Amino acid sequence: MTADLQRLVGEAWAFRARVEVDAALRFTRLAAVIPQFDPGSPAVALMLSAAQDEQRHAALCAELSATYGVPVDTTPGDADDIAPPGLSRRQAVLYEVVAACCITETESVATLATLLEEPAEPRVRAVLHEIARDEVLHGKMGWGHLAREATLLDISFLAPWIPVMLAGTVDDRLFATAPSQPEPDGLLRHGVLPHARKREVFVQTLLDVVFPGLDRFGVDSGPARSWLAERQAGSASPQR
Ligand SMILES: [Fe+2]
Ligand SMILES: [Fe+2]
Repeated sequence: MTADLQRLVGEAWAFRARVEVDAALRFTRLAAVIPQFDPGSPAVALMLSAAQDEQRHAALCAELSATYGVPVDTTPGDADDIAPPGLSRRQAVLYEVVAACCITETESVATLATLLEEPAEPRVRAVLHEIARDEVLHGKMGWGHLAREATLLDISFLAPWIPVMLAGTVDDRLFATAPSQPEPDGLLRHGVLPHARKREVFVQTLLDVVFPGLDRFGVDSGPARSWLAERQAGSASPQR
């Protein structure tokens, strides 16, 4: 493989390793807070188990990034509370669960499933497979928490916050017509989606899974749909 490809792939896996470390910390923190307002929540045990999964994923991703010559430090830092000020503790937890699970984990499952449809290096494939299996459960854990909260409190406050969560999930450059730097061939074999494919998966997953899921539980997806439409309008190619 070219040095360029190797570097890009190594950086992508290193980035994933850091995301996994943050997810482990976030789930551990949320598992400690939820019992304060809902001691019977099934999410607590699921979060603790998910935190262990994420630590394992971090190690797998770090091992791969090192293989590509990009070592990464997976020492836990802080997974800061991403909820905006002004929410109650319970609302803040729900905010984080929706952002981290209903959006991020759901998007992650779609990305991994897309990658697994392509031929890949055996070690890459094994890692993608192992991570995908767990992320499916982490996504469900989030939707389950949202479903439970929907029966216990008014969750409609989330609607205007979904665009903020989405903006925190993706880099606005995703909506640029072309990647910020030329992309070498062969990314998919090493578990990395090329720019256009990444955007396609992100958008389609919002439209097919995330937005309908939010609407189903009473969180109006309208503001999030507008956010997406604005970004897509901004990225429309002049040739089209
Ligand atoms: Fe993970
Ligand atoms: Fe996860």
